[in-house]
Amino acid sequence: MNRKYLSILVLVLVAVVALAGCSSGNGSEEPAEDGDRVFTLDELAEYDGLDGQEAYVAVDGVVYDVSGSDMWDAGGHNGFQAGQDLSEEIKEVSPHGVSVLERMPVVGTLEE
Ligand code: HEM
Repeated sequence: MNRKYLSILVLVLVAVVALAGCSSGNGSEEPAEDGDRVFTLDELAEYDGLDGQEAYVAVDGVVYDVSGSDMWDAGGHNGFQAGQDLSEEIKEVSPHGVSVLERMPVVGTLEE
């Protein structure tokens, strides 16, 4: 009988240790990544593509990473600088409209 209880105890302990191991490392201390981040306009302004900084632009509340584009060298593109909400400009001024954004990775959204 004692042996049986001992084995059950050992099994329970193993299960507890295994579960604890699974949940560690899944903590949410890291800032949101991969399209989850919510930017204020001030935060977006930091990503102007200058001085080696990443180049992000917001259009219709979505923040895109244009850093990988050759057409956004140093965060600049046909007279526009990254780090801003360019919703009106891309629709009213650019010859291409919003369809080109489909190729750009989404990094987050703009705070309402
Ligand atoms: C005078 C205004 C502008 C001109 C003449 C212009 C011109 C162009 C041209 C010729 C292309 C390449 C065409 C293509 O790939 O289909 C392009 C790409 C692009 N443009 Fe503009 N653009 C203007 C404004 C803007 C604005 C305001 C934005 C705001 C976000 C923007 C975002 C983009 C993006 C994301 C791409 C794709 C880049 C890539 O695929 O690497 N453009 N633009």
